[in-house]
Amino acid sequence: MKVNGEHYRSIWRDGATGEVRIIDQRWLPHQFKMVTIRTLEEFEVAIRDMWVRGAPLIGATAGFGIAEQMERDPSNAGFQTAYEVLNATRPTAINLRWALDRCRDALMPLSEGERAEAAWALAQEISDEDVGINKSIGQHGLKLIQDIAATKPAGEPVRVLTHCNAGWIATVDWGTATSPMYHAHDAGLPVHIWVDETRPRNQGALTSWELGEHGVPHTYIVDNAGGHLMQHGQVDLVITGTDRTTAQGDVCNKIGTYLKALAARDNGVPFYVALPSPTIDWTVRDGVAEIPIEERPAQETTHVLGRDAAGAVSTVQVSPDGSPGGNPAFDVTPNRLVTGLITERGVCAASAEGLAGLFPEKAG
Ligand code: MRU
Repeated sequence: MKVNGEHYRSIWRDGATGEVRIIDQRWLPHQFKMVTIRTLEEFEVAIRDMWVRGAPLIGATAGFGIAEQMERDPSNAGFQTAYEVLNATRPTAINLRWALDRCRDALMPLSEGERAEAAWALAQEISDEDVGINKSIGQHGLKLIQDIAATKPAGEPVRVLTHCNAGWIATVDWGTATSPMYHAHDAGLPVHIWVDETRPRNQGALTSWELGEHGVPHTYIVDNAGGHLMQHGQVDLVITGTDRTTAQGDVCNKIGTYLKALAARDNGVPFYVALPSPTIDWTVRDGVAEIPIEERPAQETTHVLGRDAAGAVSTVQVSPDGSPGGNPAFDVTPNRLVTGLITERGVCAASAEGLAGLFPEKAG
């Protein structure tokens, strides 16, 4: 998508230097910076400390990290080290392991001399595929928005609530939850997006920044506003992303998603999840019991990043000295609360049958 009128992906290989460049998300929405990441250690830090974030982008970054490592040490041991280091960075988003497994299956049968070139090609393939998947999700999600628009007086916006940032910078491009919004906006369909701030890291500010850059009308709201807005008929549809969805359609996403789903159910608001297939973990069924939930540093809850009136970006403490912070980063929304899953192959029920219908070769 565009920033200041120029098209970017969130990660790319520089054509001139061959180095991997990323949008450094630590500074958004206040400062737009790009950075080069070179070594395995830098890839590890970039994922763990959320210079890059969002399940699909974490997977794509891991692909490029493997390629960098194969340049330096294409041995089996070199690959295994990179696999383990990268896989340990963030435990919940399944796209990370999905990408690493894909690299392992493609590279291990090759000779050491063949691995670097193949790894670069594969990293690019994973990135390009992600863009295509998200574009398709947008086209299928657009249909849902069109259906709701058809029930409203002409010109009245479809009001969509979203949580966290499942936007283009959480993927390689388009985003998952935001892709239907961008498609609707670009098709001339009026939409208005309620963007949850998403404490503790305020990824909603990233979503608001993205939407603003693309000219999509939106309002940044506190996390607790959603239920109230739904009670008052202000939300037509919820669309969130996901970090891991189980084979029976339980959805793990940013902490607070579950509460939005409960409020949506209580108020008869459809709750959809944008789900790229690499985010499906076919090895687990019960999300609450089986998905590991990342516990992030307490400092993310006790401190916030912001910009002061003079324009300086800094971190300030919001809690009293000595109060411990707790920071589970994700929660699980059981499939019974999910109206449907918007995948690259179409929309399905959040159930084993629904997913198997669209992905029979995986569900088997
Ligand atoms: O901790 P984050 O910012 O990486 O969490 C991101 C989310 O929870 C997103 O909703 C999810 O990864 C889907 S991104 C298309």
